[in-house]
Amino acid sequence: MTKKFSTICQHLGEEKGAFCDSVVPPLFETVNFYFKNFREAADYFAGSKTGRYYYTRVLNPTTEVLEKKLAALEGGEACKCFASGMGAIGAAIMGTARAGDHVVCVAAVYKNTHRILTEIAPRYNISTTFISGKSIDEFERAIRPETRIIYLESPSSSKYSLQDLGAVAGLAKSKGIITMIDNTCATPFNQNPLAFGIDLVIHSGSKYLNGHGDVLMGAVIGSKDLVGGIAGKEHYLMGNILPPFESWLVLRGLRSFPVRMEHFNRVGLEIAEFLEEHPAVARVYYPMLASHPQHHLALRQMRGAGSLLAVELKGGPAKAARFIDSLRYFKIAASWGGYESLVWYPMIAKPDAGPEYMDLHDVNPSMVRIFIGMEDIEDIKEDLDQALRKD
Ligand SMILES: Cc1ncc(COP(=O)(O)O)c(C=O)c1O
Repeated sequence: MTKKFSTICQHLGEEKGAFCDSVVPPLFETVNFYFKNFREAADYFAGSKTGRYYYTRVLNPTTEVLEKKLAALEGGEACKCFASGMGAIGAAIMGTARAGDHVVCVAAVYKNTHRILTEIAPRYNISTTFISGKSIDEFERAIRPETRIIYLESPSSSKYSLQDLGAVAGLAKSKGIITMIDNTCATPFNQNPLAFGIDLVIHSGSKYLNGHGDVLMGAVIGSKDLVGGIAGKEHYLMGNILPPFESWLVLRGLRSFPVRMEHFNRVGLEIAEFLEEHPAVARVYYPMLASHPQHHLALRQMRGAGSLLAVELKGGPAKAARFIDSLRYFKIAASWGGYESLVWYPMIAKPDAGPEYMDLHDVNPSMVRIFIGMEDIEDIKEDLDQALRKD
């Protein structure tokens, strides 16, 4: 029976009769699963090593429920969960590329993804060409005979710029290149890249998926073949797993995921429109605003844009600092996707960075990133307004 989005979150992987009739899947906080006799152990190792649990680094029943749900939410065959989003990104890239391969990557990716490609991958003779990703010609020009991966992040984490998923997937397939995308910002609620032909979807579940700001986790979703290759080495051998307790917490977070995303899509748009009209704001970056340069593409491949947005303030960095310090409900923190409103200054660690850095990472000194949480929207508007008016 096919299940729709919210039903997957509540039921998939926990069919009636499983887990001793407990309504909530239990937390299997164990390292080992024992064999009943010698024969059973010998058969397990002689066969395909499937069909039962053996060791939590291979498979744990609590994590397995979560993996089934995440695979279904993205429309994929298989999913593996990792200790963090970075764990998933590193495993997907390093598990797919081989020495001598080349990667084409969107320049405005999450900055630590950029570091994997520039600081770790070159050690294994894997090179990367960074492009803006805004036109398909740019991808065509960057591809070489040895290109193995096209890595996307759409929307990207800074100005929420997009890539045309269907067009990139089509081009990559015609050349035998594997496409992967960081879909953290959109979530499976708002965008399903596999449906556009992308091969692997990566998530940091530390954000919207868990949604409570208390778990670090990551996931890679795609075909059994591609995910299986990564699972056997970069996941199992390197021990880059999501422990059972974290899996149990994310399962709990997923119960309210569709309801939370509906809220975030609604308030995100309302606050983006409110800020766009505000006299202290020069520009708002949010894909569902008509003013976003790729708004039509957003409407084609996304169902909403959550409540993460960036604003450029009139008055530069000094104004940005005053605004941030004047907010009452927004804590100054780098993450997003939880219950609480947060604010971040993308250039906090690079206050003196020049135009090259700004261009590469799609940031500028007047930019502030805002995440709208689950507080009352009128309180949030009032707070933003009073902070924007501070001179
Ligand atoms: C878009 C994006 N991808 C990946 C990550 C990394 O995720 P994690 O912090 O779970 O390792 C982040 C973290 O901020 C992110 O913003």
